[in-house]
Amino acid sequence: MKKLHLLIVLSVLLAFAGCGSTDIKNSSKSSIDQKVDSLLSIMTLDEKIGQLTLYTSDMDQTGAFLRPEYLEDIKNGDVGAIFNAYGAEYTRKLQEIAVNETRLGIPLMFGYDVVHGHRTIFPVPLAEASSWDLDMMKQTAEIAAREGAAEGLHWTFAPMVDISKDPRWGRVIEGAGEDHYLGSRIAEVKVQGFQGDDLKDLNTLAATVKHFAGYGAAQAGRDYHSVDMSDRELREVYLPPFKAAIDAGAVSVMTAFNDLNGIPATANSYLFQDILRDEWGFDGFVVTDYTAIMELLFHGVAENEHQASKLALDAGVDMSMQDGYYHQTLADLVEDGRIEESQIDRSAGYVLRVKFQLGLFDDPFRYSSTERQEQEIMTPENIEAARDMAKRSIVLLKNENQLLPISEDIQTIAVIGPMGDNQRDMIGSWSAAGDWTKSVSLLQGLKNQKPDIEFIFVEGTGINDDSRTGFADAVEASQRADLVILALGESYEMSGEAASRTDISLPGAQEDLAREIHATGKPIVAVLMNGRPLTINWLDENIPSILETWFLGTTAGDAIADVLFGNYNPSGKLPMTFPRNVGQIPIHYNMRNTGRPFDPNSKYTTKYLDVENEPLYVFGYGLSYTTFDYSPVSLSSKSMDVSGSIDATVTVTNTGNRAGEEVVQFYLHDKVASVAPRVKQLKGFEKIYLEPGESKDVVFNITNNDLKFYRLDMSYGSEPGEFMIFIGGNSRDTQNAEFELQD
Ligand code: NOJ
Repeated sequence: MKKLHLLIVLSVLLAFAGCGSTDIKNSSKSSIDQKVDSLLSIMTLDEKIGQLTLYTSDMDQTGAFLRPEYLEDIKNGDVGAIFNAYGAEYTRKLQEIAVNETRLGIPLMFGYDVVHGHRTIFPVPLAEASSWDLDMMKQTAEIAAREGAAEGLHWTFAPMVDISKDPRWGRVIEGAGEDHYLGSRIAEVKVQGFQGDDLKDLNTLAATVKHFAGYGAAQAGRDYHSVDMSDRELREVYLPPFKAAIDAGAVSVMTAFNDLNGIPATANSYLFQDILRDEWGFDGFVVTDYTAIMELLFHGVAENEHQASKLALDAGVDMSMQDGYYHQTLADLVEDGRIEESQIDRSAGYVLRVKFQLGLFDDPFRYSSTERQEQEIMTPENIEAARDMAKRSIVLLKNENQLLPISEDIQTIAVIGPMGDNQRDMIGSWSAAGDWTKSVSLLQGLKNQKPDIEFIFVEGTGINDDSRTGFADAVEASQRADLVILALGESYEMSGEAASRTDISLPGAQEDLAREIHATGKPIVAVLMNGRPLTINWLDENIPSILETWFLGTTAGDAIADVLFGNYNPSGKLPMTFPRNVGQIPIHYNMRNTGRPFDPNSKYTTKYLDVENEPLYVFGYGLSYTTFDYSPVSLSSKSMDVSGSIDATVTVTNTGNRAGEEVVQFYLHDKVASVAPRVKQLKGFEKIYLEPGESKDVVFNITNNDLKFYRLDMSYGSEPGEFMIFIGGNSRDTQNAEFELQD
C-alpha cells in the first residue's frame, strides 16, 4: 500500500459502505462518520497517533521551538496538523509531503492564531468588544477567515472567550472583557464569522474556542497562575461564552494553561469529559495549549511524560500542541495496556471528522492558491472594514466643554507623546501575519484627514522609560499650538500573553509629561492606546477630553482622526470596568450586595479606608458628541409566570444636535433568591442610531430564561419573586422598574 493514494482506498471502502459516490457537501454528518470509520479501520496505531499531534513550523512561533525535524515528522506520518505555517506556496509544499510521501496521504490541517485579522489587522478583541456591534464583529471574523484561508490556513485558534475581571492580566486584550452575557454574544458571532455556514467553503476557517477554562481568573492577574473558584462561579460566569461558541458550531476547543481548583485544565476530565462532551454534546476535537501536556510535569501531577500523556488523554484531550508527548508516548501506553486503543480511535476520529468537514479529502490543496491569495489579501474593502470597525471601537471617556470634535478654527496642533507617530504598536499583540509597517500612525491619520492643519510632533518621552530629556521640546511645541493631542499608552508587548502588570498606570514618565503639558494651559485631548483598563485618575481630573482607542489595527490613525474631527461620532462603551487603583481589583459591575452593603455613614459596611468603592469608569460607560435621554421604563405587565413574558420599553431620544449611536443596555436583578443575587446582570442590549431630535422605542422581551441562575442545589432555573429592571446607557445610570415572577 506504500504511497497508495488515500482517496482510492477510501472510495473502495466507501463503496462497500454503500456511500461511495456521495458528495460530502450534500451529505449528512453520519456519512462523514462512516468515512471516518472506514479510514480509521485502515490506519495503523502510529498513523492514528500522528493525527493527534500538532507541531509548529519554523515560520513563526509563540513559545519554545522544540521540533526542528518537523518536516521529517510530516514525512513519517507522525503529525496531523501544523501551525504557524501560512502562505499558499509554503502550505502547498508541506501538504505535498503529507499527501505524496506518507502511506495514506492524509492531508495536514494548518492552524494559526488568526485572532483579530490575518493580514488586514482589525482592532484587538477588547477594542472590538467596546463597539457592542455584533454585525461588525462578525464581519471582521469573516474577512480574517477569508484572508487566512486564502493563504492556505484551515483553522484558527480563536475566539478567545475568557472572562476576566482583572486588568492586571495581560490577556484581557484578547477577550471581550468582564461580562459573560456580552462575551457570549460576541463568542457566537465570532464563530459564525470564522466558520460561515459550511466549513468546506473556501472562505472559512475552523474556529477554536479557548482557553477551557477559567484562565481569566488567574490569581492576582499573573499569567498562568492557579485558578480557584466555585462551581457556581465557573458555570454562571466563566463557561457561558464557551457554551455559546459551541452552540454556534465551533469545531475545536483549546485547553487552558492554568490549574482549576488544583487540577490542571489539560488533565481535567470534569471540564472535558463531564461538561464538554457529556453535558454539552461537543463532537469536535480538543487541542492543548502550547506544550501544556509537558507542563503537567511542572504542575506536579505527573512524574514523567507517559503519565502526563495518560492524564491528558483520559481527561478527553485529543491533540497535543508542540510538546510531542502524544507522539512519543501513546504507542507505549497502548502496548502496556495503560490506555485503550479505542481512546486513540475516538480522538483521531474527532480530528479526522473536521478534516472531512473542511473538504481536505476532496482536494488537499484547495486552500493553497497563489491566485486567491493575491486577490483576497488587504483589499481596499478589507481596509475600509478595518477602519469602520476601528472607529466604532473607540470610547469617549471624557469631553469637557465639548472640546471634541476639534473645532474648524484650529490651525496648529501639537501631537505629543510616544504613541503619536507610532506604527509598531497599533496592530497590538496576536497580530498574526499583520505587517505593522502598513499600519497608519495617529500623526499620519491626522495629516491624511487635515492636510491644511499644521501638526508639530514631539515624542517627549519613551513608552516605558523615565527619560525627561524631550519634555522641554514638547512644552515648547505645545505653546506654539492651538490644541494639544497627548498620545499616551502601553507598548503592544505590555499586554497579551505573559504580560501581566501589577501597576497599571501609564508606564514610564508619560504621566509626568502630561503634567508638564497641562501646565502650559493649552486645551488638551488625551488619546490612549493600550491593551487593558489603566488607572488614569490624574488624567481624568485634569485633562478635559479623553479617548480610549486601545490598539485599533492597520487603520488606527485614520479611525482616530475620524473621531477627533467629528467625521464619526463615538459610540463605544467599556466592556471592562476601569478601577481607580490596583487595590480595587478584581472589580466588576455584577458583584453581590454583601451582608453589609456600602453606607458612607456607617463604618462597618463594605468599603476601603483609602479609596471609594466606585470605579473610575463603570462597565458599559462611554460618551458621545450628542446626548441621549431615556424615558421611564414602561412594562407590558407587572407580573408573569414561567411560561409568560413581559416587554420592557424605553424611549430613547437624541437631545443633542448631532446624529449618533447609543448602546441601550438592559440589566436585571433578582431581589430575593436562595443564592445571594448579583446587584445587576446584563441581559440584553441594542445599538441604535438616532438623528438629532429623533426618538426610538427600544423593547426588551423578558422571559423565564432571563431569570435563571444556579440555585441552592445547583439546578439551573428561576425562583418566583420580585425582580428589578435597569435600562440605560451604562451599568450605573439607568431607568428602573419592577415586576414579579409568580409561582
Ligand atoms: C499559546 C497561547 O496561550 C494560545 O492562545 C495560542 O493559541 C497558542 N500559544 C498558539 O500560538
